[in-house]
Amino acid sequence: MAAEIIDGKAFAAKVRGQVTEHVTRLKEEHGITPGLAVVLVGEDPASQVYVRSKGKQTVEVGMNSYEHKLDADTSEADLLALIDQLNKDSEVHGILVQLPLPKHLDEDLVINSIAPEKDVDGFHISNVGLLGTGQKSMVPCTPLGCLMMLRDYHGSLSGLDAVVIGRSNIVGKPMAQLLLGDSCTVTIAHSRTKDLPEVVRRADIVVAAVGRPEMVPGDWIKEGATVIDVGINRIDAPEKGEGKTRLVGDVHYESAAARAGAITPVPGGVGPMTIACLLANTVTACCRANN
Ligand code: GUN
Repeated sequence: MAAEIIDGKAFAAKVRGQVTEHVTRLKEEHGITPGLAVVLVGEDPASQVYVRSKGKQTVEVGMNSYEHKLDADTSEADLLALIDQLNKDSEVHGILVQLPLPKHLDEDLVINSIAPEKDVDGFHISNVGLLGTGQKSMVPCTPLGCLMMLRDYHGSLSGLDAVVIGRSNIVGKPMAQLLLGDSCTVTIAHSRTKDLPEVVRRADIVVAAVGRPEMVPGDWIKEGATVIDVGINRIDAPEKGEGKTRLVGDVHYESAAARAGAITPVPGGVGPMTIACLLANTVTACCRANN
């Protein structure tokens, strides 16, 4: 049987609708407009696209967007001074520093200088610790989006075998924490994992987040498993014409869809959910700040 396609684009539109309603109520009933500050250092083309999209969607749901674009050679002191100013600004409820940062800047130092309650990425060490101990925290946007889609499809995740492929701080590790929080039996697999195909074949839920185009073939997928593909990889597509490219995930979609019970497509799966969850986290931060 063909897999159900988990439509992240439609799901994200629903989340944005809920955020818009919440923002409207905050304005009408409390006179508060949530605000998100996004800081971009340098001119990485992919980061520029993401930041533009974040700003546009922030405004579309009725929130204030504050964009800070800094030169690639900005000093650490100047960046920390800006974050300090945003930390103190009561109109700013969420702060996001787009990663990766230029090499001369210490990413950990910069992220940990954001006030934890405004850290809508959930990357601050306090939020990482709170999530790991099951306490109320800011939850990283991409894994949060994956969890929302999994809960929506399965209802309860309790007792399911989940494999997360990839151990990044942004996706793999927080994803594993969230699945554990929902009582899955969780394996984190990575480049040194022995017999990865066998590990994946046992899983009821596969979350692929490694950034390697189509590295998970369909025959690794257990019949009926749920596949969440976080990868967004651009590859050459000579079949579309000379110099053309296309986006693929970390999973080989056609062969995996033939075995899975449900699967997220690329594009249109996890991607749209990430920014929707960022907007939701900003509203959460605003509500906590005003309670
Ligand atoms: N770069 C790639 N993904 C992310 C993300 O989720 N947050 C930030 N701040 N930077 C990123």
